[in-house]
Amino acid sequence: MTVVQGEVADRQTAQTEQARPVIRNTPVDKKSATQSRRKSAVPVITIDGPSGSGKGTIASAVAEQLGFHFLDSGALYRVVALASLKNNIDEHNTMALVELARSAEIEFRRGADGDSQVFLSGQNVTRDLRREEVGDCASRVATIPKLRSELLTRQRLWRKPPGLVADGRDMGTVIFPDAILKIYLTASAEIRAERRHKQLIDKGIEANIAGLLADITARDERDHNREIAPLKPAEDSVMIDSSALSIEEVVTKVLDFAGNRI
Ligand code: C5P
Repeated sequence: MTVVQGEVADRQTAQTEQARPVIRNTPVDKKSATQSRRKSAVPVITIDGPSGSGKGTIASAVAEQLGFHFLDSGALYRVVALASLKNNIDEHNTMALVELARSAEIEFRRGADGDSQVFLSGQNVTRDLRREEVGDCASRVATIPKLRSELLTRQRLWRKPPGLVADGRDMGTVIFPDAILKIYLTASAEIRAERRHKQLIDKGIEANIAGLLADITARDERDHNREIAPLKPAEDSVMIDSSALSIEEVVTKVLDFAGNRI
C-alpha cells in the first residue's frame, strides 16, 4: 500500500456537495450484472474510508472532473435504514430488511443548486438520510450478510461508460476489486467529528461535537470489526490522510494518481 501524508495545515472541511450526474438505480438483473462486471473494461476508481473522512465530497468532485458516474454507496445503506425506521421494522428482522434492500425504489437526482438529492419511492429523503440516527442504524443493518449481497448486485449496476467513481467502505475490497485506482482516505476521529459538526450546522441540523465523536468512534469500531466486508484498506490501495489537507489538495492527488492509470 502507498501512503500519502498531508503537509498543509488547512482544515478546510469537506462540506460542499458537488453536482452529480443523474443516476437511476434500475431493476436488478443479477446475471447480467455479474457478466458485465467480468467483461467490462469500464474504469472504476474506488474511495473507501471511515465516516467523515470526506470521501463523498472527494469522490463526487473527482467524478465531475473526469466526467464519470458517481456512486455514494453509503446512501444505499442509509436508505434501507431510513425505510426500516419509517416502517418500524425491527433491526433483528433480517428477512424484512433484506427485502427492503432488494426492492427499495432509490433514485439519485440533481437538485436545483446542483447538489445530489436522494429519493425513496419518489419522496426526497436527502435531509433525513444525514440524521445521526439513520447513519447509526445504517452501520448496524450493514452487518447483515444477505443484505450486503443484495446491495452488492445493485452497486455493480452503476458501472457504466465512461467510468465510475464509487465511495464507501468495501468498494475496493469487495464490490470493484478490479478498480484501476483504489484510494483509502482517512483522517483523525477528532477532525472527522469537527467536519461532521460543521456539515450538520450548515444544513441547519443541531449537533454537538462530543456526541458526534462518540458516534464516529462507535461506528468506526463496528465498521472495522464486522465479520463481513470490514472497513480496511485494499492491499493495492493508496492511503491518503486528509487531516491536514484541503478538499482541492486531496482531489488533485487523486486525479494525479488516476491520470497515470486511465
Ligand atoms: O458512508 P456513510 O456514512 O453514508 O455510510 C453509512 C454506513 O453504511 C456506514 O457506517 C457503514 O456501516 C455502512 N456502509 C457500508 N458499506 C459501504 C458504505 C456504507 O457498510 N460501502
